[in-house]
Amino acid sequence: MKLKYLISTCIGSVMFVSAAGAIAAGDAASGEKLAKKCAACHTMDEGGKNRLGPNLFNILDKPAGAVEGYKYSSAMKESGITWDAATFQDFIAKPKKVVKGTKMSFSGLKTAAQRADLLAYFQTLRSSTAEIESHGNAEDGKVVAQKHCIVCHSFEKGGKTVYGPNLFDMAGKPAAAIAGYDYSDALKTSGLTWTDKNLIGFLADPEQFLKGTKARFPGLKSAQDKADILAYMKTLK
Ligand code: HEC
Ligand code: HEC
Repeated sequence: MKLKYLISTCIGSVMFVSAAGAIAAGDAASGEKLAKKCAACHTMDEGGKNRLGPNLFNILDKPAGAVEGYKYSSAMKESGITWDAATFQDFIAKPKKVVKGTKMSFSGLKTAAQRADLLAYFQTLRSSTAEIESHGNAEDGKVVAQKHCIVCHSFEKGGKTVYGPNLFDMAGKPAAAIAGYDYSDALKTSGLTWTDKNLIGFLADPEQFLKGTKARFPGLKSAQDKADILAYMKTLK
């Protein structure tokens, strides 16, 4: 099982590298400094106001011209662009060349390194839990559970302890509450409730989320898997 996780993690990273193509990996910290240039016209925090330009939180992988309540130029609205790594970097190199007629008056970031850094920073401005949740699919989540969890957990009502505790009706409940299960001290004393946010944080990387947990599980890397398993767990009532 461990090997399988390792392999899927490796495939994951290879895909990431090839998706970035020839672009050198950017540095998010220096990207954050560069983003001050954008802050004159854009907020970048979650739920931030539209200023002269639209709020840019979680803009990557979204279609252009789609931030609610912002009045775009028709050039932007009709551009048909999706802000992936390539279009984002092209646009901030030369906004007016990539979207003719855009009302974004910004001369552009000159070097590829700067654009890669800025991209790396924007990749950190990702989905809130709410956003992730709303994209979950319970059917797919069941498959994720079969693939990643059932080696250690049962999910059905009254299911037995495998290695970890039974997970029926766990969403929204206090942690470490299954009678008779020998939890780690870390989880017993955590005071956690399995809110959406906590579940997503825990499932992303149990050991990082809760030092000392005995859930030896490398974590779900894909945001979609996390959303799906969350949706599935919520159906188990
Ligand atoms: C002088 C103001 C100004 C600055 C500086 C500026 N922008 Fe913009 N930006 C705008 C405006 C205005 C729009 C809307 C364009 C339109 O509707 O044509 C926009 C649109 C965008 C969009 C498209 C958003 C969407 O919802 O499709 C992205 C992406 C973007 N800007 C990124 C940046 C980045 C990154 C920087 C910094 C490197 C930056 N902008 C700097 C004014 C600015
Ligand atoms: C290698 C075994 C293993 C795998 C795989 C695993 N877990 Fe666990 N899990 C555990 C153990 C052990 C615990 C108890 C942790 C503790 O006491 O610190 C636990 C605890 C939990 C808890 C807290 C339960 C409670 O009563 O508070 C949740 C929620 C959970 N796991 C969800 C999952 C989900 C969902 C998956 C699949 C995506 C998964 N786990 C995969 C071993 C595993």
